Amino acid sequence: MQLLLTRPDDWHLHLRDGAAMADVLAHSARVFARAVVMPNLRPPVTTAAAAAAYRRRILDALPRAAGFQPLMTLYLTDLTPVDEIAAAVAGGVVVGVKLYPAGATTNSDAGVTDIERVRPVLEAMAELGLPLLVHGEVVDPEVDIFDRERAFIDRVLDPLLHSVPGLRLVFEHITTGDAVRWVLEAPARVAATITPHHLLYDRNAIFAGGISPHLYCLPVLKRERHREALLWAATSGSPRFFLGTDSAPHARSTKEAAHGCAGIFSAHAALELCAEAFEDAGALGALQGFTSQHGADFYGLPRNADTVTLVREPWTVPAAFAFGDGEVVPLRAGETVRWRLAGTSVSR
Ligand code: NCD
Ligand code: ZN
Repeated sequence: MQLLLTRPDDWHLHLRDGAAMADVLAHSARVFARAVVMPNLRPPVTTAAAAAAYRRRILDALPRAAGFQPLMTLYLTDLTPVDEIAAAVAGGVVVGVKLYPAGATTNSDAGVTDIERVRPVLEAMAELGLPLLVHGEVVDPEVDIFDRERAFIDRVLDPLLHSVPGLRLVFEHITTGDAVRWVLEAPARVAATITPHHLLYDRNAIFAGGISPHLYCLPVLKRERHREALLWAATSGSPRFFLGTDSAPHARSTKEAAHGCAGIFSAHAALELCAEAFEDAGALGALQGFTSQHGADFYGLPRNADTVTLVREPWTVPAAFAFGDGEVVPLRAGETVRWRLAGTSVSR
């Protein structure tokens, strides 16, 4: 069996920097035409000039003729000047501004401590049509880690939606039925990304056969009924949901550690894994909308003209891939994936 799809885009990707970036970039570029590149480097990408320089480093590291386009983001801090928004829009390479609640995830310590501090920036974004990309978890230690997304909706996101009219919002890597419901009830200026791993796994997978640091990410995997809600949303055909892999590579040594980092590397098989999830749901017909259409439509970008072909032919994922001077353990390492990328045709 074969599937011919419009070439997909990844609306949420961590590429890191330097030699590690060059290693992971090829995995995304082999299949995706474009990716929204997250700004949580050290130091974070907080200015339009830094985003343009990062984009240049990515382009320079690309395999030849990859036909891959990085779409850049700014990292919002309490101190982001309002002027930076106009500069970002004028520069033409920034497609969104990322809100990390300070302390919520990897390299988020420079993030926003109180949404009130960035209100003028958000108003400028609403005016210029630049979307806010939201990591939706509260950092309140009183809130159970499995409830942090739901609490964020109630405490931050819903009030924000109503208090900044016109602000375009992408609720990133949603993990709960609560988020699905909230997005569906929100106006059309709101959308959400969903990762392959949240479509395929619930939180039990982290503990099956012994604790697996390679299935630890943020927001953490949730219970089965939430996975089912996400799968329903992704396969529903609703244009409000699209693929953001959140592929987030960390060196093996920093994952297999006493305080292992959060992040799952999936770029090597992201589309293939989505095909599995959609096949299991009996919804392969909805795959192309989710991977290749809804995101471009939301961001107001043309859909890709190229195509990719998937064949239903199991292959075994390598145990590790090169990652700078270390290695990264990919999702499904040593296990099989049911779909394989057979080719990409570039229309010129
Ligand atoms: C991401 C990372 O490692 O940069 N980690 C993750 O678990 N998803 C950060 C993020 O998107 O939360
Ligand atoms: Zn992320």
